[in-house]
Amino acid sequence: MRPSMHQPMTSRQCQPLTGHVRIPGDKSISHRALMFGALAHGETIISGLLEGSDVLATAAALSAMGARISSGDDGLWRVHGVGTKGLHSPDHVLDMGNSGTSTRLLAGIIAGHAVTATFTGDASLVKRPMGRVITPLEQMGAVFLARDGGKLPLALRGSDSLKPIKYTLPVASAQVKSAILLAGLRANGTTTVIEEHPTRDHTENMLRHFGVPVRIEKIGGLVDAIHVDGGHVLQGCAVDVPGDPSSAAFLTVAALIVPGSDITLPHIGINARRIGLYDTLKEMGADIEFKNIRTEAGEQTADIVVRYTGTLQGITVPPDRVPSMIDEIPILSIAAAFASGTTTMTNLAELRVKESDRLAMMATGLDACGVNVEAGEDSLTIHGSGHAPQGGADIETALDHRIAMSFLIMGLASTDPVSVDDTSPITTSFPTFVKLLRDLGADMDAC
Ligand code: S3P
Repeated sequence: MRPSMHQPMTSRQCQPLTGHVRIPGDKSISHRALMFGALAHGETIISGLLEGSDVLATAAALSAMGARISSGDDGLWRVHGVGTKGLHSPDHVLDMGNSGTSTRLLAGIIAGHAVTATFTGDASLVKRPMGRVITPLEQMGAVFLARDGGKLPLALRGSDSLKPIKYTLPVASAQVKSAILLAGLRANGTTTVIEEHPTRDHTENMLRHFGVPVRIEKIGGLVDAIHVDGGHVLQGCAVDVPGDPSSAAFLTVAALIVPGSDITLPHIGINARRIGLYDTLKEMGADIEFKNIRTEAGEQTADIVVRYTGTLQGITVPPDRVPSMIDEIPILSIAAAFASGTTTMTNLAELRVKESDRLAMMATGLDACGVNVEAGEDSLTIHGSGHAPQGGADIETALDHRIAMSFLIMGLASTDPVSVDDTSPITTSFPTFVKLLRDLGADMDAC
């Protein structure tokens, strides 16, 4: 176990949050830009890359397998791809830190190369299920040796003659979908992923941007069949990474609970499969506007304007919407704690296998802050009183960045300050979180 330096912090009631701040790049798009750049022929130039530790773990793993990746004083990242068959086995174990996305997508890439690699990770990542990628990738011909229950550390030997498969996703997971599509790029024939519940489609969008045709067949209701043919060559290109809507979510909710707030978050990704939180908050009565909508490299972006109104109402969140806000349930739970009436969220089973058991962590933390909350096996019900909750608790964060950020946001408007035991994981996805909140007027101190 690596040494850990806990960095506790306390947040407390503050003046209105006002101003414009630039949210760092989208984590999902940043991972993919580095990975696809590493597989491409020629150079990929990335602007706006998230320089969080999860994405840096992806960059380090790709470098260890032969890609040349550098960042310049101009803020641009350059990736010299290895092209077809260019990846080699890393000399050392790949430490993926806290990052499930790095591990699962890289497993898909390595599966299609004559490469042997071993993954490990931090105390959170080694608890997370990898069987969901092992099963389809083994069917395609990769060989895995994992700890019991399909957990890290795991070793993987890929193959440059994979079999294409037709695979129905057993869970709504963009990571599993992406791992299979990335392996499918190297299979002998057409690989098909059947997705019964739409999940983020950045892999599909970015493959097209790198010149690979991806065919989406609608097979009824929400169900898609996504087809990719093996043998396509990715072409290096320019990628502009928009601000991360999952990071913007924390500031959005902060502005909705701190009286008098009025903030603008320019150039945020508003991919339809990522904005369930914003739709939900608007249904709860929030004043949120998407301005200056535009499309770049297959991804829609907007400037998000959020104004406090003090009129949030509890709602029942449609279960089908959950995949489009899977990372935002913790911060939605904070908004619900400040609303009038009951907010009911179901279809939350996946929350139990994120960086922590988020369903349990939110229920325990909200209860400690005086909120009336009920947790079921895959549901969360929050009874908002319409007044600021008491707060005043010390929250355990269990190496989970989004739990830490959610409760720090809560402390900005709860009656008493809220402390979290460790802010260090926040750097995985949102290294400038505390700075940007302070720039807007928030009161947060190390303690
Ligand atoms: C991600 C997909 C989601 C999300 C994660 C990033 C991605 O995970 O929770 O933060 O980049 O594909 P699942 O696909 O496992 O739900």
